[in-house]
Amino acid sequence: MNNFPHLFEPIEIGKTTVKNRIFMPPISTNMADKGYVTDDLVAHYSARAKGGVGLIVTEVVTVEPTYVYLPGDMSIYDDSFIPGWKKLVDGVHQYGTKILAQLFHPAYMAFPVPGTPQLIAPSCVGPYYAQSAPRPATIEELHTIVDQFGQAAHRVQIAGGDGVEIQCAHAHGLLGGFLTPLYNKRTDEYGGSLDGRLRLCLEVIASVRKYCGDDFIIDVRISGDEYSEGGLTLNDQIYVCKQLEKAGVDFIHVSGGNTIKRGSSMPAPGTSPAPHAHSSEEIKKHVNIPVATVARINEPWIAEELIANEKCDMCMIGRPNLCDSEFANKAFEGKVDDIRPCIGCGRCLTGIMMGKRISCTVNPSVEDDTIAPAETKKKVLVIGGGPAGMEAAYVAKKRGHEVVLCEKSNELGGQLRLAAVPIAKQELCKVIKFMIR
Ligand SMILES: Cc1cc2nc3c(=O)[nH]c(=O)nc-3n(C[C@H](O)[C@H](O)[C@H](O)COP(=O)(O)O)c2cc1C
Ligand code: SF4
Repeated sequence: MNNFPHLFEPIEIGKTTVKNRIFMPPISTNMADKGYVTDDLVAHYSARAKGGVGLIVTEVVTVEPTYVYLPGDMSIYDDSFIPGWKKLVDGVHQYGTKILAQLFHPAYMAFPVPGTPQLIAPSCVGPYYAQSAPRPATIEELHTIVDQFGQAAHRVQIAGGDGVEIQCAHAHGLLGGFLTPLYNKRTDEYGGSLDGRLRLCLEVIASVRKYCGDDFIIDVRISGDEYSEGGLTLNDQIYVCKQLEKAGVDFIHVSGGNTIKRGSSMPAPGTSPAPHAHSSEEIKKHVNIPVATVARINEPWIAEELIANEKCDMCMIGRPNLCDSEFANKAFEGKVDDIRPCIGCGRCLTGIMMGKRISCTVNPSVEDDTIAPAETKKKVLVIGGGPAGMEAAYVAKKRGHEVVLCEKSNELGGQLRLAAVPIAKQELCKVIKFMIR
């Protein structure tokens, strides 16, 4: 028996059995090439699957060619993308992990790639990179986009993927924007009431079911509460989830907040673990499909408690799986002190928003955790026992060198010890402790 019996209990999602409750939420990496899956992407996701995650929701995957979310996004807007997706799916499936594509239309949050036409939005309200106001999408365009979502899902299915996530959280992208009263000021059938604002999402779900049938997972990502004046509330979202269940959705992924209040959807260091679990707990009482929570579930015991205490059925664990691709296996084996700790610093996010490839403050090998053995073994002297010295010593040793690490003071950790002193920075102690170990 492992230490986390709830976390490692299999779960039925629609007609699919997932081996455990550690799911990986979408984390953009900027590693695709003109939308196509690269070998680096296959290696990145396969490493997380090998590391024991039960189900991976990929980063955003755009469903049409006009608007790009990030320069290194994945896409699946025509059949030429299917072979790459097959490689990705096969890479993940070889470890018994399920994979869903997060289907997305960036709308008014598209990256300002030169030549991009005026951005579309629910209404003439737009934030973010947009240098000029977006225009409201026409009803005809919406019908086309609904069909594009269905076709994109079908390509994921042809490639062997297990399903898709429909991103409606964080007032983000087209569907998130339509759902929230903050951005949707329409007075036609796609606006006005909550039913009107939800319509586009329900049409997308129907389109995916039409193309892919019942034996294909659909989940919807929502913000349980936007925590914003005039935004979606938990009460709204309980109603939304009941409609999603009726529409045949297989599980609900409850995040929180929005991109207007960035810290609400992307909790910072020092924020409490699982800040949206009160929403998933409440939503769980009103639907009969599984419900996931996300954010800052940085240690296995937190996930175990959340599930055991009925706050959620699954835990979406994002940045910790970036920081340590073996998070799940180490948890299963009870080697929790070996888990490389995520400190919530947000460097991973800042980089990708600037169009750079994914990186991590604590895990320099985030793209690919394999450390190749050196051809020639040497004696290596590392001078300085701060985080850089400790990492250098660790990697050199992993490569097979004979390593000596020297530190002039009587303790390791360097300036990280000072950095951990301010309020909300205690988590840095975890890194020091891990690295010393
Ligand atoms: C680098 C990075 C990229 C992200 N990319 C996406 C994305 O493509 N789609 C999405 O819905 N959320 C995205 N998110 C949000 C995560 O899915 C998740 O909600 C957030 O990281 C909080 O969970 P965590 O603390 O477990 O990482 C991203 C977050 C980070 C840090
Ligand atoms: S960069 Fe920071 S927040 Fe992102 S995974 Fe690494 S430690 Fe966590």
